[in-house]
Amino acid sequence: MYVIGKRGSGKSTLLEAAACLLGDLSGEPWNDATSAGLRQARNNQARPLLIDEFEPDGSSTTSAKQKALIALARAMSGGSGGRIARGSADHSAVSFRMVGATYVTSINHIQLEPQDRSRFAILQLNALPKTGHPEQSQLKLEQLLKKLRDLSARFRGHMLKQSSRWDRTVAKIKARAMSLGADARQAETAAAILAGLDLALFKGDIDELRLEDLMEPLSVLIGDPDEAEEESEGQQALDFLLSRLVRVDHGLERSVQELITAAIKGKSIDGVVDPVSFLDRYGIYVLKRKSRVALWCSTSSQLTKVFSGSKWADGACKTALKQLDGVEEPKNAVRIYGRQKRVLLANYACFGL
Ligand SMILES: Nc1ncnc2c1ncn2[C@@H]1O[C@H](COP(=O)(O)OP(=O)(O)O)[C@@H](O)[C@H]1O
Ligand SMILES: [Mg+2]
Repeated sequence: MYVIGKRGSGKSTLLEAAACLLGDLSGEPWNDATSAGLRQARNNQARPLLIDEFEPDGSSTTSAKQKALIALARAMSGGSGGRIARGSADHSAVSFRMVGATYVTSINHIQLEPQDRSRFAILQLNALPKTGHPEQSQLKLEQLLKKLRDLSARFRGHMLKQSSRWDRTVAKIKARAMSLGADARQAETAAAILAGLDLALFKGDIDELRLEDLMEPLSVLIGDPDEAEEESEGQQALDFLLSRLVRVDHGLERSVQELITAAIKGKSIDGVVDPVSFLDRYGIYVLKRKSRVALWCSTSSQLTKVFSGSKWADGACKTALKQLDGVEEPKNAVRIYGRQKRVLLANYACFGL
């Protein structure tokens, strides 16, 4: 599960609530965890992992750590990916599966590869409602967390008792999810979360009534939360790029939009005699013969660096930009000034021309 939301939306608190309920099963939430450390701490036991503040910060070490963690989450989420081979003391090979749930939070979710995307349910928290009595609500919250801690042992006992119906429950919910149009893995991810809910709330096999009640959260879980945002997300990323100011000659600053407009029109502007070759340095290439602007979003491109510190850092700009109408990602590399580059191609209309 991937919970995202603005600073102060209650992500850490919700994670803390889960930690209180899970008790020793999960242990404290992790901050800044390396996958090797986590593996060791878990001692390869199938226990849930809670990770707070999984933020991209633009540094390559963080992004490598996050990739390793996502790989661990993928392995833990089962399927053939969960098989881990190890040599044993008597030199016979043993293979075992490490399965378990992962719950991470961050302000923006990091870019997930398609094979990982369907393994996470992404939930977005809205801003907390304003309260006239912050002290009182703080106290209530403390009481709730204490209640959850007190409940933990009984909660786990109940789940354990109900666990024999886990497979059946998942299968039934998964079938519903697939009938709603989810693909198999997406259906499984959602079914695992809702089967957990059913096991937590009820005793005995799931019936039609309980399945019916799950339909609403199910359709939310299998609906792609990115889908609605995609168009605007791409537009936001483009607007961010176009409004960046870059220093040009004579101590002047020009926005990327001004530079691209001038480059397309073949004009010079104050401080920049040749906007086309000026933009080259940023990985922005105006291809007049194609009537396209190529955007080079590789990690080594200056364009990607323009996004550092934003929610589109670490190459997430590419994912966002390619959702835009008028932007395409050609299958093959494009020849740019004699060099092959994997770029996005945007038509002039993207820039208001
Ligand atoms: N459900 C809630 N009801 C009332 N106050 C909350 C709730 N969740 C969080 N808070 C309070 O809001 C503040 C921010 O919460 P926090 O979990 O740290 O947010 P985030 O991790 O998203 O930045 C904290 O003071 C926390 O006690
Ligand atoms: Mg937090």
